[in-house]
Amino acid sequence: MNFENLLISRENGCAIITINRPKKLNALNIETIEELHDAFKKLDSDSSVKTILITGSGEKAFVAGADISEFAHFSVEEGEDLSRRGQEILFDFVENLSTPVIAAVNGFALGGGLELAMASHFRIASDNAKMGLPEVSLGVIPGYGGTQRLAQLVGKGRAMEMVMTAGMISAEEANKFGLVNHITTQEELLPLAMKLAAKISRNSSIAISAAMKAINDNYKDGVNGFETEISEFGHCFGTEDFKEGTSAFLEKRSANFPGK
Ligand code: COA
Repeated sequence: MNFENLLISRENGCAIITINRPKKLNALNIETIEELHDAFKKLDSDSSVKTILITGSGEKAFVAGADISEFAHFSVEEGEDLSRRGQEILFDFVENLSTPVIAAVNGFALGGGLELAMASHFRIASDNAKMGLPEVSLGVIPGYGGTQRLAQLVGKGRAMEMVMTAGMISAEEANKFGLVNHITTQEELLPLAMKLAAKISRNSSIAISAAMKAINDNYKDGVNGFETEISEFGHCFGTEDFKEGTSAFLEKRSANFPGK
C-alpha cells in the first residue's frame, strides 16, 4: 500500500497507520481522508490484521484538525458535503469497522484530529497530548461527528464546555474525563499500544467484532443494542472460535482461535 500522506507498517497482527504531514501538523486534507478510507478498508478486509493503530508522525501532533486552508472558501453546500462525505468514508466508517482501532494520540488532537481519535474504538495518549474541538473559534462547528461522540464519551456538560470555549484539555484531564484510557510518555506510547493490541489479538476476532457491534448499536437511533447483543450472542455459538474457546478452557490449554 503506497500513500502520499500515510505510512503503513505491520508488526505481527497489528497494522500501524501513521498520518504523515508533519509540516502541517498532520492536518486532514481531503486527499488524506480518502487515503485513510482506502487504508482502513484494505486492512479491515485482511484477516491477518487483528488490530489497527492510528497515530501521527513527528513529536508534536496526532492531527491538528481538518485542513483549514482547503475549506476556508467553501459555500454552504460544499460545507455540508464535506461533513457528510467525511463522516461517511472515514469517521463512521472507522467506528463501524470489524477490526479494533486504537488511537495513539501523540500530541495535538484538535478538531478533526480529536474526531478521528473519538471514532476509533478507544484512545491512549502521551503526556504531552492536548485535545479540543476549537471549531467555534473559526466560526464553524465540529462536522466529523464531534458534537455527538464527545458528549457520548465525556458527558453533555463537559462536551458543551469544551465546544463552547474552544479550549484544549491536557492528557491528564482527558484521562480523568474518560476520553483516553491510559497516559504514558511519548517514547512508551506505541509500545503500550502494541501491548494492548497483542492482548486483544489473543482473543476471538469474531467475538470481538460482535461485541463492538453490540456496543456501537447502543448509540444508534432506532436500534436496540440489547437486541443486537442477543442475536450476536447467539451467532457466536455457531462459530469455530466458540468451539475452540470453550474446548480450550475445558482442556485447560490456551485457545488458538481460527477467527471463523
Ligand atoms: N489546517 C491547516 N494547516 C494547519 C492546521 C490545520 N488545522 N493546523 C496547523 N496547520 C499548519 C500551520 O498553518 C503551519 O503551517 P505553515 O508552517 O505553512 O504556516 C503548520 O501547520 C505549523 O503550525 P503552527 O500554527 O505554526 O504551529 P504552532 O505550534 O504555533 O501551533 C496549533 C499549533 C495546533 C495550536 C495551531 O497550529 C492551531 O491552532 N492549528 C489549528 C487548530 C484548529 O483550529 N483545528 C480545527 C480545524 S477545524
